[in-house]
Amino acid sequence: MNNSFWEDKKQEVAFFEDGSFNAAYNAIDKHEHTNNRNKNALIYEYEDGTAVQYTFLDLIKLSNKFANILVNSGVVAGDRVFLFLPRIPELYAGFLGILKTGAIAGSLFSAFAENALKDRLENSQAKVLFTTLALSKRLAPVRSSLPNLTTVFIVDSDEFKSLLTNASESFSTVHTSPEDYAFMLYTSGTTGKPKGIVHAHMAALQQHESAKLVLDLKDNDVYWCTADPGWVTGIVYSILSNWSLGVTTFVHGGRFDPEAWYSLIQKHKITVWYSAPTAIRMLMSKGDELVKKYDLSSLRYLASVGEPLNPEAVAWSRKVFGKPFHDTWWQTESGSILIANTPDLEIRDGSMGKPLPWITADVVDDNGKPVGENQEGNLVIKPPWPSMMRTVWQNEEKYHSYFANDWYISGDRAKKDNDGYFWFVGRADDVIKTSGERVGPFEVESALISHPGVVEAGVIGKKDELRGEIIKAFVVLKTGVSPTEELKEELKQHVKKHLAGHAYPREIEFIDKLPKTRSGKIMRRILKAKEEGQPIGDTSTLEEY
Ligand code: PRX
Repeated sequence: MNNSFWEDKKQEVAFFEDGSFNAAYNAIDKHEHTNNRNKNALIYEYEDGTAVQYTFLDLIKLSNKFANILVNSGVVAGDRVFLFLPRIPELYAGFLGILKTGAIAGSLFSAFAENALKDRLENSQAKVLFTTLALSKRLAPVRSSLPNLTTVFIVDSDEFKSLLTNASESFSTVHTSPEDYAFMLYTSGTTGKPKGIVHAHMAALQQHESAKLVLDLKDNDVYWCTADPGWVTGIVYSILSNWSLGVTTFVHGGRFDPEAWYSLIQKHKITVWYSAPTAIRMLMSKGDELVKKYDLSSLRYLASVGEPLNPEAVAWSRKVFGKPFHDTWWQTESGSILIANTPDLEIRDGSMGKPLPWITADVVDDNGKPVGENQEGNLVIKPPWPSMMRTVWQNEEKYHSYFANDWYISGDRAKKDNDGYFWFVGRADDVIKTSGERVGPFEVESALISHPGVVEAGVIGKKDELRGEIIKAFVVLKTGVSPTEELKEELKQHVKKHLAGHAYPREIEFIDKLPKTRSGKIMRRILKAKEEGQPIGDTSTLEEY
């Protein structure tokens, strides 16, 4: 898409008069002197059923308080400030408050445990962290190895509450340049520790446009994006783009539960619902009768993201909700939806849809040549686009490795049909998607190896009807350690405690030896092929196994 396209679109978002741009100003401050001022920005329901509402003005004031607290504690533009919080209103206001100061916001999914926290806070050299009393217990064991982390705010402590009460509710949002970094999110690849994907303030332009076009958000919608702001969807489509469009947004603090979800849609009269395939499949597994118990007639538009949306799930939603889920494809790195079933596109169940009008996507071979219709290849995007990641934190080499032959390489395998619809095939690497959450096998292997009984571990994603994939670990034990069921359970708990509650292996198999290349790299591809009963393919680099 040529530059004049985005130049024109810039009129739809709010720049400062001097040409600077701050994504938090654009998301909420700009509404202060408009009719949206007293409109609900956030409708929040706690797990116990209590609901609270924040108008745009309330949210402006609350995020200003967070910004003042940060500035008073010495935060300056460019500092990294992280949030390790459950889905509570403070997460949303805190995120915006950080952006307002010009600092770079980072979020950490609330299921993370000590090692996951340490790696991310260490690599980003975060200076400040917001957390809760309960979650701070997971930080405690690693806190002393994080010298840059000078301040930890416990948002549910009396001390913080009084800080908040006393903080001024006015703040002059920092005039960041459009290209200044706004937020970063750690995400996983095949090897090594997670990488910090960094996004600029200007990404909000494309986020705004995509929310309008793909999610069909309108002024009078009550919109529910079920994603957690610990991941990119929760940031982009439940903070930055939806509020940029002035849309009332619902957030549920509780856990997934089919009956609770239906009753929330009924109670809050949700009109647009953006969710994920695992949740949809879980709802589906509870049957049609449950749906009929609720009045879900408010629902106008449904969309899905994060993992393959199987055709059965689309057909089911048509049957029970009277409308299909619209699949959308994107990644942490892409910063906004790139391929989707837009409202005007006829859905081909099981397809991700077509590239948005401002995106050029294709399916190519390893030399960057288009593979032809209905052939499998690498899903690639023509760079740049406004919401594309700007760098990988302190890892330029990794950043550059995403690009080759004038394409951005997504790491996904796909096909394109005769009419230009894209169909997801799988990952080109070892990244695992379990319940829509992206997990790097290396992190899980490292956590397993830190158990005293374990010598080596190889971790793969194993196909699962409900969760898309589950994490499966192949574990080599030390001589003399018994391969018992109790030990499997102990290893699961070990990973939960040290890495993350969501990233533990649901299945463990003890084996004598892992398949490795001659240079000693674990060949997860072979473990996976064996597990799924597939041919193991090229084994020329395999050491004797
Ligand atoms: O493999 C693709 C899968 O999720 C990956 C990106 O994960 P993450 O960075 O966590 O971002 C998820 C939400 C934006 C992709 O490389 N993925 C995402 N959407 C789809 C998908 N796989 C199939 N169909 C989708 N619609």
